[in-house]
This record gives sequence, structure tokens and C-alpha cells, in this order.
Amino acid sequence: MAEHNHVSKVAIVGAGGNSGNYIVQSLLAAKNFTISALTRPGKSTTSLPEGVIAKPVDYDVFSTLVDALRGQDVLVITLNVMAPPDTQEKLVRAAGEAGVKWILPNAWAIDGTNEPIAHDLPLMAAQTKVRGLITEIGKSSYIALSTGFWYEWSLAIHDAFGFDFANKKVTLFDDGNSKIPISTWPHVGRAVASLLSLPISDPAKGPSLEKYRNSQEFVHSFHANQNVMFESVLRVTGTNPRSGPARPNPAPSDSGRTRRCLAPQTGGHWADAVLALDVRRWLG
Ligand SMILES: NC(=O)c1ccc[n+]([C@@H]2O[C@H](COP(=O)([O-])OP(=O)(O)OC[C@H]3O[C@@H](n4cnc5c(N)ncnc54)[C@H](OP(=O)(O)O)[C@@H]3O)[C@@H](O)[C@H]2O)c1
Repeated sequence: MAEHNHVSKVAIVGAGGNSGNYIVQSLLAAKNFTISALTRPGKSTTSLPEGVIAKPVDYDVFSTLVDALRGQDVLVITLNVMAPPDTQEKLVRAAGEAGVKWILPNAWAIDGTNEPIAHDLPLMAAQTKVRGLITEIGKSSYIALSTGFWYEWSLAIHDAFGFDFANKKVTLFDDGNSKIPISTWPHVGRAVASLLSLPISDPAKGPSLEKYRNSQEFVHSFHANQNVMFESVLRVTGTNPRSGPARPNPAPSDSGRTRRCLAPQTGGHWADAVLALDVRRWLG
């Protein structure tokens, strides 16, 4: 448990996943944490990083979640987007029952509690709901880390940053000059380890977990626009834009798909949801 003025026992959901793996590596490098991974035996498709204590759980058996979380100071949730929608709620309730004081909820992209964004993207409502639940239960506090979009993940997906590598096409969501905050996975890992290395409280009112209690905080590696990324892609792949089909392909502002994505309901299409998130962010 937390000794003196620092947390030390960290439980993580998704320790073997995309972002979780980097979070674990940074926590291990800090050498101040004991890390436990809530994981689904027989269902998990990832392996846990070395140095992590496996805590098998069954999301349909609440007591397994509570048992796995007992004695932990912090719960970090990096859940697969396809996990059933009530999974995070179960984790938050179990954390309250187990007396976990701090939760870093699933909020690793854009701030879904920002009103204009929440209005345009109802799928972000989950962020507001889970924070409300944490404060309603009243046993844990949250610190939500908004990292912006992940560079490695988003660059590889056409519907995210607009780059279709297979067909050598780029879709610009505007003129390609709007900059957005972006994080790399190692940066996400370092941000979490730095945050959890802060003192729990600081009488001098410097950075501390208490200072960020129940708040949304923002971190990013850099700001970049699509044109800069395009230049970088051309350079790294050795592609001459004049010799092939690698030309910017402006997204028509009246594209049916774009409008459908920004409509109140995305219809549950994952690719549309990704595009909706990104288009909304690029267009400010
Ligand atoms: N900023 C961005 O650009 C960006 C991009 C993608 C996602 N995100 C956000 O970040 C969160 C984490 O994404 P990620 O890519 O790091 O996660 P991920 O690697 O896809 O999955 C993380 C873990 O979720 C666990 N899990 C629990 N229930 C599951 C279920 N029913 N099906 C599948 N996995 C389940 C798995 O752990 P076990 O197998 O050990 O149980 C898995 O390793 C997402 O929910 C999303 O909100 C942000």
C-alpha cells in the first residue's frame, strides 16, 4: 500500500496491450512500483511483460475483480475498445469495494468531457459517465490523462490520420495545416510513470496526486499537422510524390461518410467511429 507520501502498488488492465505495455515498461524502469495485471485467463491474446504479477479475473464474477484489486493503491485502465461497455463500470465498482484510492480511467485520447466534442461525438459519453460513477461511489478518485491520438497507431490507419499506405493515398481532412496534439506510446508510458511518481500531497502546493484529484490532465509528445506527416512519410519511405500516386487527396467537406461520422449516431461502425473522432479533432 501507499507508504508515506507515494503510491507503490499499481494494478493495470491491459498490461500486455498496446498502451499498457509501454506504461508497464516505464513503471518498471522507475523501480518504485509493484505492478499487477488484471488479465483474463484463457481469453487473453497478449502475454504479460516480465516482472508483472498476473491477477486472473473473470469480468462476470465481481469477487474476482475485488480480490485482484485488494491492497492496490492505483488502478490503471487500458481496455480494448471492443470490451463490453459495462466492463469499465465493473472495474470502477470493484476498485471502490477493494479500497483502491486512485483510478486512471480509459481516457487515452481526446477529452470526451469537453462539451462541444461530447455533443458531436456521443460515443465519448462513456468518459463522463465513468467519472460520475467514481465520484458517486466516493471511495476512489480519478485522474484522466488525455494523450491526444497515438502516433504509431493512428498513422497506420487510413481512417485515423488519413494515410492509406497500401494504395499510396492521403486524405486531408482540411488543407492539411491544422495541428493537433499527438503522443507516442513511450510518451504515454512515461507520462503515467511520472504522474504516479508524484507525492500524494504537497504542502507547498506543487504537483501532486491530490492536486490533480478528479481532473482531466493533458500530455502530448508534439503537435503536428497532416502535411508535416506527409513529408515525413515520403522521406522515410523514399517516395517521390511526383513519380507515383502518392498525392494528397482532399477529403470533400460534404463527403457523405464524413457527415455520417459527425452525425449524432455513428451507427456502431468502428471505422466510422475512428474517422469521426479524428475528423472532429482535425476540424477543431
Ligand atoms: N489515443 C489513441 O489514438 C487511441 C487509439 C486506440 C485506443 N485508444 C484508447 O486507449 C484504450 C486502450 O487501448 P489499447 O490499444 O492500449 O488496448 P488494447 O491493447 O486493444 O487492449 C488492452 C487490454 O484490454 C483487455 N481486455 C479486457 N476485456 C477485454 C475484452 N472483452 N476483449 C479484449 N480485450 C479485453 C486485454 O487484457 P487481457 O487480455 O490481459 O485481459 C487487452 O490486453 C482504448 O479503450 C481507447 O479508449 C486511444
